[in-house]
Amino acid sequence: MKLSKAIAVSCLVAFAFTATAQKPHDPKMDAYVSNLMSKMTIDEKIGQLNLPAIGFDITGPVLSQGVEEKIQQGLVGGVFNTYTPAAVRKLQAYAITKTRLKIPLLFGYDVIHGHKTIFPIPLGLSSSWDLPLIEQTARAAADEASADGLNWVFSPMVDITRDPRWGRVSEGGGEDTWLGSQIAKAMVKGYQGKSFDTNDVVMACVKHFALYGAVEAGRDYNVVDMSDRRMFETYLPTYKAAVDAGAATVMSSFNEINGVPAAANRWLLTDVLRKQWGFDGMVATDYTAIMELMQHGVGNEEQVAKLALEAGNDMDMVSEIFLKRLKQLVDEKKMNVSYIDQACRRVLEAKYKLGLFANPYKFVSEQRAKTQIMNADKLQLAKEAAEKSMVLLKNQNNVLPLKQGSNIAFIGPLVKDQRDLIGNWSGAGDWKKAISVWDALQKQYPSNTFTYAKGCNILDNQALIDKLNPHDAQIVLDSKTPQQLIDEAVSAANKANVAVVFLGEAFGMTGEAASRSDISLPANQVALLKALKATGKPIVLVLMNGRPLTLPWEDANMDAILETWYGGTKAGDAIADVLFGKYNPSGKLSMTFPRSVGQIPIYYSAKNTGRPIDEQQKYTSKYLDIPNTPLYPFGYGLSYTTFSYSAVKLDKTTINADSKLTATVTITNTGKMAGQETVELYVRDMIGSVTRPLKELKGFQKVFLQPGESKTISFNIGTDDLKFYDINMKYTYEPGDFKLFIGTSSQDVKEADFKVE
Ligand code: BGC
Repeated sequence: MKLSKAIAVSCLVAFAFTATAQKPHDPKMDAYVSNLMSKMTIDEKIGQLNLPAIGFDITGPVLSQGVEEKIQQGLVGGVFNTYTPAAVRKLQAYAITKTRLKIPLLFGYDVIHGHKTIFPIPLGLSSSWDLPLIEQTARAAADEASADGLNWVFSPMVDITRDPRWGRVSEGGGEDTWLGSQIAKAMVKGYQGKSFDTNDVVMACVKHFALYGAVEAGRDYNVVDMSDRRMFETYLPTYKAAVDAGAATVMSSFNEINGVPAAANRWLLTDVLRKQWGFDGMVATDYTAIMELMQHGVGNEEQVAKLALEAGNDMDMVSEIFLKRLKQLVDEKKMNVSYIDQACRRVLEAKYKLGLFANPYKFVSEQRAKTQIMNADKLQLAKEAAEKSMVLLKNQNNVLPLKQGSNIAFIGPLVKDQRDLIGNWSGAGDWKKAISVWDALQKQYPSNTFTYAKGCNILDNQALIDKLNPHDAQIVLDSKTPQQLIDEAVSAANKANVAVVFLGEAFGMTGEAASRSDISLPANQVALLKALKATGKPIVLVLMNGRPLTLPWEDANMDAILETWYGGTKAGDAIADVLFGKYNPSGKLSMTFPRSVGQIPIYYSAKNTGRPIDEQQKYTSKYLDIPNTPLYPFGYGLSYTTFSYSAVKLDKTTINADSKLTATVTITNTGKMAGQETVELYVRDMIGSVTRPLKELKGFQKVFLQPGESKTISFNIGTDDLKFYDINMKYTYEPGDFKLFIGTSSQDVKEADFKVE
């Protein structure tokens, strides 16, 4: 039984991805590291594997004690959560002046959507479908982080996820493998630049390897149990894309995969990652993940130390179990010392590649910190990114853009808010530097006719507030009663031509350890909306949140809905510009918005089933109480203008391995404003040796059109675009009938048929 599973798995691995050839090593680096290692004691080697936290932030139990002393004893390879040139210089000086071998430290940090200039949360950025923009934000983040002493960022997070209950959907690029893979590449390129020769780049860390986005029931840290086919086809390619783009490091994830925790999973971290994909960089665990292996129930402290190292982790983040246990394992001949050597070599290689041996203070420059951090270019980029990330979900009767000079009531707890604008995982970002929507409006329209009412607290569920406030939520209930707040808002709306209401999730309701079973707006916010609806005034709902929400009532009752995510440092200015039409919204959802949590997991690339939905037939695949369709599908997003699509034309209707077809479509701006459209390309393989999704994204293009203007755009499709894991887990295409779709969302498309020989 065991043997046959082992054979099945190894076949799968052999076929799963074309093995990437191991990159040739730099002989100079090899010689340097070998020479250094020949001088190192086993304690010094183990010290290199230790990655404690020291400094400002924590995401788990505070375990790292006496870090400064340990650095001086040569028992630390890198630290995270310390930044600023002064703080980094101090710790680096301990390593360089107090330790025997003067091995420099790595300095890591969770730079997730910007370092100090905060860009929209990654889910928001992915809604821009703008890869050059996403790359630029990572480049800017790397420039700032490296100017602040850092040389390693724990990003990109490329976990594909189809469960918006999971709080960490905010940190990634959504549900789609193809789009997620492009984003993964763009971010790695942005962080690492062209080479590590300059001092404005950082090492990327691809996380969380692997499948963390598929935790059962959307509950954080939960188990993942997944078929090999789904794993290789849908969930692993984004990590592979990041590795292929040259990511220097990888972080193993908290979750288990089919019974084996990722942090102890040699098949994952060694067979797939290194042997099949040719990854030759360094792997770090997630926060205390080795310690958590004991809770997973796969061993005692000594056993989990051995499991984690032998699996392929090189650095132990915060557990300090490597430090405590590895030497003893070797002394007692329970583990081969070569595992320690191998991990130590990878850590030293990372330092060598970064140029830290040549100059341990390469990334420490007060001058760069002054000129690079939050400079005008970065702030401008943050504004552009915030604008391009917003998704217009509804706009009945063109209530948006707002008309200057009209009486507008701005209502809601997020109108004057600054903290939530920068969202969760906002790293070293200072929310006090984020300009609120209200301040942006006052600045831009000094002689305005705007009124303000808070309307409600962001939350009034005390039990939830008590969970969020210890983690920086700073939710203080208003001294007015909920009814007084609503009455004020209703009175403001009654006096206005339109009410613009800012609601959503407090930022702490998203991110790590922030799963929700109910992903609707908080009840007190809905009560406010219902009272405002009763005024009969047009209502624009502006959302700030970190996940798809269930909004069926809001969709039916609001006149317009603008999704702004948490837009970052410049969100206030960007939102003001979008509301008044200075920027015409162009974002498209990268993750499906369900009607109800009962539909989860819901994603556009679903399968047909043997009994596809038929409302007239009882025994078909559907719900009794709601439609199968989402509220807002993947790829959906409106503009202040409208676009029409011509029929799709194909230059040929049959292709083979040596030929490609070209599909063309003409897009016309049929509205009154200039605007940008993202044109999406999907395919469906009609018959396969295994069932294929109803649609798979294979490309997109952006087109900017003046009113009345048309442009013809074309896509090429070849057999490489049609590959999948066949019945034998061979990555190939299969001849037969296909459909090609081009359109404005995954559900609104024009189609054409073609064949593959
Ligand atoms: C998170 C990682 C993060 C790490 C270090 C963990 O709790 O899962 O994404 O990089 O903490 O802060």
